[in-house]
Amino acid sequence: MIIFNNGKYKSIYAAEQNELAQIAETVAQDKDFRPIYHLAPPTGLLNDPNGLVFDGEKYHLFYQWYPFDALHGMKHWKHFTTQDFQTFRAADDLVPCELFESHGCYSGGALLVGDKIAVFYTGNTRRPSDNQRVPYQNLAIFTKEGKLLSKRPLIENAPQGYTEHVRDPKPFFTAEGKIRFICGAQRENLTGTAIVFEMDNLDDTPRLLGELTLPAFDNQNVFMWECPDLFKRSHEEKDVFIWSPQGKAREQEQFQNNYHAAYAVGKLDNLHFTAEHIAELDQGFDFYAPQTFYNTQTTMFGWIGLPDLTYPTDRYKWHSMLTMPRALRLVDDQLYQQPITEIYQNMTALQSISVTETTEIPNLDRAYLTFDAENRPFKLSFFHNTQNQRLTLSYDGETLCLDRNATEQTPLMEQFGAQRYCHIPNLHKVEIFFDRSVAEIFLNDGEKAMTSRFFIADRENHLSAENISTIQIAYPQAIKYE
Ligand code: FRU
Repeated sequence: MIIFNNGKYKSIYAAEQNELAQIAETVAQDKDFRPIYHLAPPTGLLNDPNGLVFDGEKYHLFYQWYPFDALHGMKHWKHFTTQDFQTFRAADDLVPCELFESHGCYSGGALLVGDKIAVFYTGNTRRPSDNQRVPYQNLAIFTKEGKLLSKRPLIENAPQGYTEHVRDPKPFFTAEGKIRFICGAQRENLTGTAIVFEMDNLDDTPRLLGELTLPAFDNQNVFMWECPDLFKRSHEEKDVFIWSPQGKAREQEQFQNNYHAAYAVGKLDNLHFTAEHIAELDQGFDFYAPQTFYNTQTTMFGWIGLPDLTYPTDRYKWHSMLTMPRALRLVDDQLYQQPITEIYQNMTALQSISVTETTEIPNLDRAYLTFDAENRPFKLSFFHNTQNQRLTLSYDGETLCLDRNATEQTPLMEQFGAQRYCHIPNLHKVEIFFDRSVAEIFLNDGEKAMTSRFFIADRENHLSAENISTIQIAYPQAIKYE
């Protein structure tokens, strides 16, 4: 075991006494933005959800984590198990301590193989001689209780024809019981793609099968695919591919951020994907690198964040959170997403309230709101404070607009605008989950989603409504850690 400790490439094993406790004190100074029912890092930076898997009794959930600061440093995998997505029990983290992961345990997925959890992940390394990045694809084995048993490298370096950007293995079983994993990759001509490996069993050496082909996707300017995820919707006999392409041109009412998460629905024939529908997964300001797992239904977590962003919470030494778990379903080749039923079951009872131009709603910033928009224009403003800050949601009969212009500015807003749009004619059901500095918005039972951070300190629990007279409100249950 090596204890890495080189600038931001520092493992938690190198933490000085009380160092993390002191960082946690800084985190605790944040009285405005820490969420109550979303998973956020105890200290430091969280990014992608990783290794999601159901072990027959409970779920394993990991996320990318840099413990020491709100920056992308040495990545660990923080690990929890849960049965209900309300109470999370700490399990062994994946901590970089071998040469084949010297600069971080990057993203990946997990499979239940026999009675073990097989975690496939990327070992980020840099060659000491010239600092050149060398990716490894690694395998870690955990018990179902969450104890780490072993780690080993499966593949050293990128295959021929690809740059050093090969990462994020997501494993799955084939119909014949073999193990395949799909990795995001960059070709030598600097275009993005995904490549698939196969192994007969966990002791085997992976063989490269080739690239996933997806001709329906406009790959122009796309230089990297991150976090690919491939799964079958057996009820619908459809295949779904989810990934995070980087470099795609921004559009007026879709793909509006610096990077995006997309999905394709269609038919997979060996490695060839015939897509009938391709779209952005979530049209808010902050959503990336989602990953799914399966137990009776396909469920997805996403990172409420994006690469290269800073947030106002960085000053409190914490950054980003995960979405709530979302159940996925297909409706006419469109992927619908909505929080899993447990989230609704564990809320307080829905209450109907009349809203006006000035309505005070207790704990609005941790509330679930829902109303029928009746396909008519409306405007809602939330959290008005003395500095005239507020978050606004408006609909013109065709397009919904989430406006962060009057909230604390972030660098992304300067570069990529302060409004996010979602084209949705025939808007009825609107659902908003507020949790201090995040809003997860679902439209028409999950036909569209918009997930966004917003930063309004000293906010009032104030709602101003135009053309909406009644809303229903409830309070989701706080997350507990064991
Ligand atoms: C996506 C990503 C992955 C990588 C990980 C590193 O956000 O860049 O491609 O494995 O984050 O933390």
